[in-house]
Amino acid sequence: CGIVGYIGNQDSKEILIKGLEKLEYRGYDSAGIAVANANGVHVFKEKGRIADLRKIVDEDMLARIGIGHTRWATHGVPSTLNAHPHQSASERLTLVHNGVIENYEQLKEEYLEGVALKSETDTEVIVQLIEIFLNDGLSIEEAFRKTLKAVKGSYAFALLDAETPDTIFVAKNKSPLLIGLGDGFNVVASDAMAMLQVTNQYVELMDKEMVIVKRDEVIIQTIDGDVMNRKPFTAELDASDIEKGTYPHYMLKEIDEQPLVIRKIVEEYRNENGVLSIDEEILAAMNEADRIYIIAAGTSYHAGLVGKQFIEKMAKIAVEVHISSEFGYNTPLLSERPLFVFISQSGETADSRAVLVKVKELGYKALTITNVPGSTLSREADYTLLLHAGPEIAVASTKAYTAQLAVLAILAEVTAVSRGFKPEMDLSKELGIIANAMEVLCDEKDEFESIAREFLTVTRNCFFIGRGIDFYVGLEGALKLKEISYIQAEGFAGGELKHGTIALIEEGTPVIALATQESVNLSIRGNVKEVVARGAYPCIISMKGLDMNGDSFVLPEVHELLTPLISVVPLQLISYYAALHRGCDVDKPRNLAKSVTVE
Ligand code: G6P
Repeated sequence: CGIVGYIGNQDSKEILIKGLEKLEYRGYDSAGIAVANANGVHVFKEKGRIADLRKIVDEDMLARIGIGHTRWATHGVPSTLNAHPHQSASERLTLVHNGVIENYEQLKEEYLEGVALKSETDTEVIVQLIEIFLNDGLSIEEAFRKTLKAVKGSYAFALLDAETPDTIFVAKNKSPLLIGLGDGFNVVASDAMAMLQVTNQYVELMDKEMVIVKRDEVIIQTIDGDVMNRKPFTAELDASDIEKGTYPHYMLKEIDEQPLVIRKIVEEYRNENGVLSIDEEILAAMNEADRIYIIAAGTSYHAGLVGKQFIEKMAKIAVEVHISSEFGYNTPLLSERPLFVFISQSGETADSRAVLVKVKELGYKALTITNVPGSTLSREADYTLLLHAGPEIAVASTKAYTAQLAVLAILAEVTAVSRGFKPEMDLSKELGIIANAMEVLCDEKDEFESIAREFLTVTRNCFFIGRGIDFYVGLEGALKLKEISYIQAEGFAGGELKHGTIALIEEGTPVIALATQESVNLSIRGNVKEVVARGAYPCIISMKGLDMNGDSFVLPEVHELLTPLISVVPLQLISYYAALHRGCDVDKPRNLAKSVTVE
């Protein structure tokens, strides 16, 4: 979910709605704003996208203070009723919330007997609770603070009080939230991107802080009321990076940006002598570790699987890769000197953050690989490596994945050299070759469009097979296809399919096979024969030099270990065109959010 707030001299409605549009990547099943003026607080909310909300907002009304929210449903189905903001019984208080209140049932039982709740959300319980405390005679600040102390879970809150119309009350725990500073106005936002239109000066909030935001003043306090002084930082984002320009979709723009991103990464990680380098402290941590634990979710997890190959093959350190949401309660037996590496495009994924908190409690060191400087995972880890991919807006991750692979390869290679191993390759040069190969692939869109048309227009399912590193890319290819085209897709190790899943192969079932590894080229082709014998419709994507008659597409030749950086590009484009032909919303697929800030 995403939160915005504005207090100042201008009309708040358009600023809030524009802000929400920029936050739509965090969820878009319903949205709402509440604005206040001399006539009281007015709430507008609607199921669906921000565009739907825009239609119902009263344009003529002037209001210089307001809060807004775009939702990814946790408690309660997506509906207008469950959309934020939520109001207290008397409608004096209006609240937006991001996060999950773990003890809301208990709070409801303890304090809200006899209060008729209008929605199914945990958030409404909170706004009603603040009002109960107000009715007990507390001031608004005291009532808000008392509520924060009673609440267990994650939250970013922005609260309006009709009787204090010059203030937005804000609080945060575990969910991201920033205060933006302006001249004669101040704003609240889950992400600086949302309010870049009005300011680039932001103040970070820490967990369990409460903030009083007025037009000319921002007071940050701890939950116990101690005032904190904190300097703002400048958000180094370029507003044009978050526009899609002439592209029909962000996803296509981001796929096309990949060659540029790879070149930028090489530049960013080269030292003044033109040699790839990594911060000495990070290298020391890598060298001290007897085992590396990669923790990630979704696409970043798939990047982690490839990263394991890079680090083990180049730097010769054992690596385990774990899904963040599993690690917490299913922690493996740890080695003596573990180093944790968090991979997260957004740096905000709550599942990953929960592991980081635990790891820090245990006293271990953590490195975050992220696209977002200053994100929660970056701030809370000991070290950060940035992806330099520029903002990724489409929900389906593309350029962040290849950027993650490039940074992981650099980390592996530089660590290898620091350990005295002979470099596996001239990585700068090889990444240059990768960037060129990506460009060639991006110029072949027609080919991938026709593959999508031929294989994926009518099918209900699709399999991706590969062996070794190709298997991991297949997992990512399947995730891309599922996410945006809703075709049931699975990635399988080529040899494993016959142990059960081959039962699903029918006449015409598409099977996309990757063949980029010499050592398994013949065996993966054997697996293709097995499925073809059962009626499958094969699409083989091979690498030059390993190609055979009848392959659907031949990739330019690159270093064998780095093939995932290019073999994923056709899979991204095939998914894109499959979704397009099926009339799906490519950039905002149903049920998903780009940044999931709840566990
Ligand atoms: C969400 C997105 C995925 C993404 C995952 C991890 O589920 O829909 O595309 O891979 O989160 O996100 P992160 O920002 O941690 O890489």
